[in-house]
Amino acid sequence: MQLTRATAVQKISDDLRVRLSAPEREVKVSIPVRMDDGSLKVFEGYRVQYSSLRGPYKGGVRYHPDADINEVRALAFWMTMKCAVAGIPMGGGKGGVTVDPKELSIKELERLTRGFVRKLAPVLGPQRDVPGPDVGTNATIMGLIADEYSKIVGKATPAVATGKPLDQGGSEGRSESTGIGGMYVLMALLPHLTRKKPSQLTVAIQGFGNVGSFLARNLVAEGFKIIGLSDSKGGIYTEKGLDPDAAETYKKKNGSLEGFPGTKNISNEKLLELTCDIVVPAALENAITKSNAAKIKAHIVLEMANGPTTTEADDILFKKEIHVVPDVLANAGGVVVSTYEWEQNLKNEHWTEKKVLGKLRKLLEREAKNVWKRSTKLKTDLRRAAFSVALERLDATLDKTPKKR
Ligand SMILES: NC(=O)c1ccc[n+]([C@@H]2O[C@H](COP(=O)([O-])OP(=O)(O)OC[C@H]3O[C@@H](n4cnc5c(N)ncnc54)[C@H](O)[C@@H]3O)[C@@H](O)[C@H]2O)c1
Repeated sequence: MQLTRATAVQKISDDLRVRLSAPEREVKVSIPVRMDDGSLKVFEGYRVQYSSLRGPYKGGVRYHPDADINEVRALAFWMTMKCAVAGIPMGGGKGGVTVDPKELSIKELERLTRGFVRKLAPVLGPQRDVPGPDVGTNATIMGLIADEYSKIVGKATPAVATGKPLDQGGSEGRSESTGIGGMYVLMALLPHLTRKKPSQLTVAIQGFGNVGSFLARNLVAEGFKIIGLSDSKGGIYTEKGLDPDAAETYKKKNGSLEGFPGTKNISNEKLLELTCDIVVPAALENAITKSNAAKIKAHIVLEMANGPTTTEADDILFKKEIHVVPDVLANAGGVVVSTYEWEQNLKNEHWTEKKVLGKLRKLLEREAKNVWKRSTKLKTDLRRAAFSVALERLDATLDKTPKKR
């Protein structure tokens, strides 16, 4: 759907259209896992390797009860676009296991992860396919993937997975990379989107997990005022502005943000409709749909979640002249630092946080400006512009010499 919309503004070669019409490889595996009670359960796992045109497949592994091959395939296509927008030397892939990780013990999760790697090992590898974390997986699981793969191939191969713990070859700056990256992208685009300075801008953030909390902290450091925050249990609001560190401490102690002193409780739906300058969906997909898009009052939507705006909602926001900074650009910080981790592992180096974040800022500023320029040239929104940049880069990898019969 998004490809069709993007190709309306960016002509692509017939070869690229064919290459992107289906993933290069889809793997579906059954993973038998010995449970703690001695029984044997079989879980279904997937890896979709969508495109290697720009480099090894790159994309997270999701552990979720609703994960299935269709979802993983769509996300693998998305990763192809995201890596191309970011200009990193990676293709696109994604993995998933249909499981609720909260229902498994730590040992069962380890056996599941190692079993998944044993099934996938022939198609993984630092130059082939490099998984990272996604919903329901974390640094520990990435460390297990690298460990199991290393055992199978008989040599330490940390570059086979990213988002690992620091002592297993993880990169400095990886945990904050997506949130801080969103701030870098926003700061680069801000002069084009508004005449106001950060200190004159108010922000509401839906989702106060890894991404939302690092973004909130970094926005406050730049002078923005956070007036609303929410998590799955509900939200809080105050015109006076919130301190994200204090909100996090309160959430840890009380299990939710609701009741944070000096704020009013607000529902997740109402949070998106607050009168503010910037609204940030940083939780789940499909947060902004045709039923609430018309009620959005912010001038800027910064998409930190993957797929938070439906295509119908996109059209409504475009008509309202609301700028949507698309997910493939806004949240690319995570995959960029993952690629830095891969590079450090390959070179056997360990970069400082200053170096990692400095490189990230430079890259995201450059690519945000690129996307902005493309949107003005094509007179289109930032999402189509980002896809246009990505498609052009993917097309440039193809050999266009006419083939003789
Ligand atoms: N972590 C990364 O590096 C990364 C990179 C790119 C994209 N993303 C995307 O960003 C989003 C958030 O990821 P994360 O890593 O912060 O996850 P997380 O699990 O750390 O946090 C998710 C947050 O959303 C909240 N939430 C869940 N359901 C909600 C609802 N219905 N309404 C409001 N809040 C709700 C949760 O309470 C939590 O605060 C996801 O869409 C993810 O795919 C994450």
